[in-house]
This record gives sequence, C-alpha cells and structure tokens, in this order.
Amino acid sequence: MRTSKILIELNSGKKYLVKDVSEDYHTSFGIISSKELKGKKTKIKSSTGKDFLLIDATFPDLWEQFQRGPQIMLQKDIGWIMAKTGINKDSEVLDAGGGSGSLCLSLANICKKVTVYEIHPEHHKVVQKNIDLSGLNNVTLKKDDIYQGIKEKELDLITLDLPEPWQVVKHAEKSLKEGGFLVIYLPNLTQMQRFLASLKGTSLKMLETVELLERKWAINEQIMRPEFQMLGHTGFMAFCRKM
Ligand SMILES: C[S@@+](CC[C@H](N)C(=O)[O-])C[C@H]1O[C@@H](n2cnc3c(N)ncnc32)[C@H](O)[C@@H]1O
Repeated sequence: MRTSKILIELNSGKKYLVKDVSEDYHTSFGIISSKELKGKKTKIKSSTGKDFLLIDATFPDLWEQFQRGPQIMLQKDIGWIMAKTGINKDSEVLDAGGGSGSLCLSLANICKKVTVYEIHPEHHKVVQKNIDLSGLNNVTLKKDDIYQGIKEKELDLITLDLPEPWQVVKHAEKSLKEGGFLVIYLPNLTQMQRFLASLKGTSLKMLETVELLERKWAINEQIMRPEFQMLGHTGFMAFCRKM
C-alpha cells in the first residue's frame, strides 16, 4: 500500500515527495511542519507563508520520482500498450528487461501480477528501489535471462524492451495464454525486420507496428504554440497476438 505524500507548491507547481511525515520537511519555499504533514488539511502554508497542496501521491507522482538507470519507456507508449491489450486488474503480465522499472511498474499499477526479468545487477537494483518507492506488492523481480526461457505460464501479456526479442519468441509462444499479447519495443527497424522473420511458423501473429509522436505545447496568456523542441524518436512497438 502506498503511504507517500506529495507536496505541491501552488505558485510554481514544484513537487516534493514526502516519505516520512514524522519529521519537518524542508523545501526551497520554507519548512512544512510535521504537525501539518500529519494533519487532515490539504491546503497548508510553509514557514515562509507559501501555499502548498498536500495529497496522497498518485502513481504518476511517484513515477516522476523514480530513479533512472537505462533508457525508460515513456508514458505515451505505455498508455498505448494498456489501451491496445486491454490489460486490467485480472491480468498476469511478464516484462523484460526491467531496466528502470518505468514500464513494469506502470503495468503493475493496473494489473493483478507482474513478473520482471532483469539480468544486469545495477539495473536490478534500480528496479527494486523503484518497486519500494511505488509501494506496489504485486511485482516479482527476477535476475533471470529471458533468452534462456520463461517459467511463468498462461500470461495475458509479455512486454519486451531489450536488444534481441527474436530470442524470446519461442518461449513467449509457450508462456502466453490463447489470445495473449506479445509487445516488443525497439529503436531500429532493422531489429524489427529480424523479429518479424522470427515469427514465421509460430502461433504469434503480427497485428500492427506503430511509432507514437508526442508534441507538447507552450501555453500561457501570451503564447499558444507547439514547443520548439520535441523528442523526435523513441522506438517502434510491434503488437503480436497468440492465435
Ligand atoms: C532499455 S532497458 C528497459 C527499460 C524499461 N522498459 C523501462 O521502462 O524502464 C533494457 C533492459 O533489458 C535488460 N536486458 C537485456 N537483455 C536481457 C535478458 N536477456 N534478460 C533480461 N533482461 C535483459 C538490460 O539489462 C536493460 O536493463
């Protein structure tokens, strides 16, 4: 269960994660007393008179505070996976490699159970740290190499964000339930070509390959236009289904 709170300074929008309400919290806008943190009020003032909102941290609040290790999957892509596969509170999911935990923990936030394979010891530590921060207790983190096989069976979804997903196709076929999804995320189309070839003769059918672009806008009283800079390319996603 999540116990962290988020403090938001209302003028700037700056957020602070409060893990322990038994101590005063120091911000660049003054100190928030432990008494205020423990109280029931959501609108509170710091020692310098600045206004703060104090609420229970939501999953996206916590996601913003996650430690970063390897390149994470972004919310635009994670949301698409959720929408296209229909995973929900009854779903059992496997994710590899765990990386920084962005994808696997987002999935765990809405699924019944998520198993994560992460072979790199340092990345394993980052995922564990982020599991602890999230407070989610439906995640099993393993040090296993997914290229060697998958122990879990009857899975609703397998997500792969690693360099050689074609090494996992045969294992995924055995571990997915009928109608289950395999979603892979790759930065290069050359990798996608090799992955496609590996599907031949299997029960995994390619449904679609997609690249999602997200363009943020600068909005205030004077300006209303797209931001000059945007993230040009993150990766391609391919959606396959066992059928
Ligand atoms: C780009 S990161 C994944 C990021 C992750 N999707 C996220 O959103 O934070 C790729 C990860 O795959 C791991 N990895 C690579 N090969 C693997 C394998 N055979 N089995 C398990 N993990 C593997 C790497 O150590 C690395 O941490």
